[in-house]
Amino acid sequence: MKQYYARITGWGKYAPRRVLTNHDLEKMVDTSDEWIVTRTGIRERRIAGPDEPTSVISVRAAQAAMKVAGIKASDIDLIIVATSSPDYLLPPVSSQIQDMLGAKCGAFTLVAGCTGWMYGLVVAQQFIQTGAYKTIVVIGAEEISKAIDWTDRTTCVLFGDGAGAVVVQRSETPTGVLAFELGSDGSGYQHLIVPGCGAVNPPSHEVIDRRENYIRMNGREVFKFATRVLGRSLMRVLAEAGLSPNDIDLFIPHQANHRIVEAAARLMGVPEDRFYMNIERYGNTSAASIPMALCEAIEEGRCKPGDLLAMVGFGAGLTWASAVVHLGGPDESVAVSLADELFILARAKYLARRTVGMVQGLATDAIMAVNERLRIL
Ligand code: UT7
Repeated sequence: MKQYYARITGWGKYAPRRVLTNHDLEKMVDTSDEWIVTRTGIRERRIAGPDEPTSVISVRAAQAAMKVAGIKASDIDLIIVATSSPDYLLPPVSSQIQDMLGAKCGAFTLVAGCTGWMYGLVVAQQFIQTGAYKTIVVIGAEEISKAIDWTDRTTCVLFGDGAGAVVVQRSETPTGVLAFELGSDGSGYQHLIVPGCGAVNPPSHEVIDRRENYIRMNGREVFKFATRVLGRSLMRVLAEAGLSPNDIDLFIPHQANHRIVEAAARLMGVPEDRFYMNIERYGNTSAASIPMALCEAIEEGRCKPGDLLAMVGFGAGLTWASAVVHLGGPDESVAVSLADELFILARAKYLARRTVGMVQGLATDAIMAVNERLRIL
């Protein structure tokens, strides 16, 4: 059977026009620019206007990605939209987006909190690897500003709106997601939650009076979870791909807090400047944050087709996901040899590490057996 790979051939983003700065927030709640910058790294964020609902910003990001990939709407076989803030509870916003793009294909919305787009990328890869589809658009879009309690300083300074998208296409050259991990620990579900307006606590005057239709976050718990999971998950996918942090051209983490990334970089022994950050301009855009960061990193020349990236997301659920990704790009000829080299290198390293691991395992077993025997004697 032929082996297919899911090549990222296009990328795009859309940032709503209205900018809300920390100084604007100082006039709304008891906070300061200094607190927000030092505790989070955020200076400003975008807030979508009435003419920029989730569907519209998604379409703009998808069209930008389609332009880079050089594809038409009729080429799309599937649209995956990761969001926790769709236009409506029903219909799925993915169908609105499919119609607005003029595509004739399946479309679905995927909810995995801030980790949603990473889940979407991995799902797209599966459809392409099986040979089922050739071209998939994966969008991450959020308007968390609509679920924010603008009187709650512990959450309203953190989030922003935006959308990012990639086009993923069938390739016979090794590229795309090389290794991934999807994680979930639902025991922490209450730490990042909109308690009202779901099936457990349906909309009512009481729910609105208690402001339960807004996001509530136990920031400290989510912070602890994120610092625990981020570096470890990245190290696991790197090991699975047979790579070390030094092989990675750029790390693209979910943009939730620069201190979380600092902690992960320290744990991994990687200089912090190898982690791409744009949180100061957009805040935490949830499922949109990684595709927006990927797009900006390419636009700023921080990474390019042929590069090896490591991405990691985390958020509500609690969920997390990480992946080692070879960035293909629209021009198939550019990265072919790089990809070939990379795969030979990665395979060789993987086999070497596996052999060392097996030898270590055998040695440990032998030592334990000797100890056991000495105890008997
Ligand atoms: O994408 C989804 C995942 N989300 C995250 O990853 C977020 C993870 N959590 C965080 O990033 C951090 O926990 C926050 C940025 C949310 C909070 O930072 P922190 O250093 O954990 O602050 P804290 O919650 O421990 O609060 C410290 C103090 C408190 O005052 P007291 O109790 O020490 O008097 C807060 O009331 O800071 C106060 N505070 C603020 N002060 C000024 C909380 N929010 C603000 C604010 N402005 N906006």
